[in-house]
Amino acid sequence: MQTTQTAYAAKRGSATDALNHLRDGDMIIVPTGVGEPPALLTALSEHRRQFRDIKVAQILAVRKYGYFDPETAQHVRHAALFFGGASRAAGQAGWADFIPNYFSEIPVMIERGQMPADVVFSMASPMDANGYFALSLGADYTMAAIARARVIVLEVNPNVPFAHGQCHVHISQVTALVESSEPILEVGLPKIGPVQEAIGKYVADMIDDGSTLQIGYGGIPDAVVIQLTAKRDLGIHTEMIGDGILTLVESGAVTNRKKNFMPGKMLATFALGSKRLYDFMHQNPMLEMHPANYTNDPYIAGQNDNLVAINASLQVDLLGQCGSESIGALPYSGTGGQTDFVRAANRSRGGKAFIVLPSTAKDDTISRIVPTLTPGTHVSTSKNDVNYVVTEYGVAQLRGKTAKQRAEALIAIAHPAFRGELRAAANKLLVF
Ligand code: COA
Repeated sequence: MQTTQTAYAAKRGSATDALNHLRDGDMIIVPTGVGEPPALLTALSEHRRQFRDIKVAQILAVRKYGYFDPETAQHVRHAALFFGGASRAAGQAGWADFIPNYFSEIPVMIERGQMPADVVFSMASPMDANGYFALSLGADYTMAAIARARVIVLEVNPNVPFAHGQCHVHISQVTALVESSEPILEVGLPKIGPVQEAIGKYVADMIDDGSTLQIGYGGIPDAVVIQLTAKRDLGIHTEMIGDGILTLVESGAVTNRKKNFMPGKMLATFALGSKRLYDFMHQNPMLEMHPANYTNDPYIAGQNDNLVAINASLQVDLLGQCGSESIGALPYSGTGGQTDFVRAANRSRGGKAFIVLPSTAKDDTISRIVPTLTPGTHVSTSKNDVNYVVTEYGVAQLRGKTAKQRAEALIAIAHPAFRGELRAAANKLLVF
């Protein structure tokens, strides 16, 4: 029998060699964020003109590789499951594709063949003594793609932590291995201003000791986190683990003891933070990284009592419909796990789903509470799922309320300069 070390040596090669496994028309699945493999994507970019119709599907590309190029989009193009800084301009200009999704369901779309997954390109930890690599930076939908793909290429990097959970791939499943050693990209916490801080305080005041948290993406969720360090016995069941959560662990606020689902353990599906976070994840029994159809499944996450979900939005209408991912028809981000965790918190006994947003944009010239969503807006959280909406002016609790009561509650947390026109618009819409 071939030893795992012999198999490793036989599969090791250069990033350019690994491209020999690609076929025209392939969909390459790449993990979320910093789980993307820089050596492989750089090689693909350099050789992109020799391929036709290759797609690279990913949530939140963090680096703008050479293949982000409108001139060569017929060779290799990006298919965003969520737009970020590297891919947003391409999505808005129309030469990167967009695949709408709930994060929890991407693995299922792959398993059922609705979304192709011909090839996986992923960062991985070094192989352990038993022949396993950890895809700890993004188990997300990549584990589902591993089970289906024709070709699996891992970029092995000693800086990738070997985490616990369902994020392991055996050498026998791997087609080719590429080695790299550059530090994992570090992503800092967003800038937090007084508005974000005020919103964070409203939410933090409504979080009881013993709650289990999902922390979303953006400045406000992180502003909440930094106001929770004095809480006790918090638990973590989330999508993204970042430095905010690490701060809570270090402050002693997180023990995971009160969780009903997997007590004692924190769960996440991808990591985005600093070297401190990546070091913390290494061989740490407190944390498990699992695929998104596990972490984000509302029926699983909602088994925790007092589950608190904190997610950001861009615009909310007077019924409470949340346009969290586009500005009108222009894509900005994606649904991510927002709806998954809003539903999970609604299922949880004592759960609270918070949608947070500043009351205005563009130096107070635009109200983000609006009578109706701007035409073309992608609705992320529906009127039937939304519960707490929070701005720097307070909290509107919407579930169980009539349309008129919702409009009143939302106008009360709009910026005072816009309340008059919102009331007049509500009257016209016959909401009042
Ligand atoms: N009209 C015009 N511009 C608007 C706007 C509006 N209604 N609302 C926001 N903007 C602009 C802001 O001014 C800001 O622009 P700037 O960068 O030039 O200042 C930009 O859009 C982003 O708004 P901001 O409030 O700073 O967003 P954020 O950085 O806190 O991020 C998102 C919020 C986009 C990440 C969040 O809404 C999102 O993607 N949500 C869905 C996904 C999700 O919740 N996932 C959670 C699980 S991880």
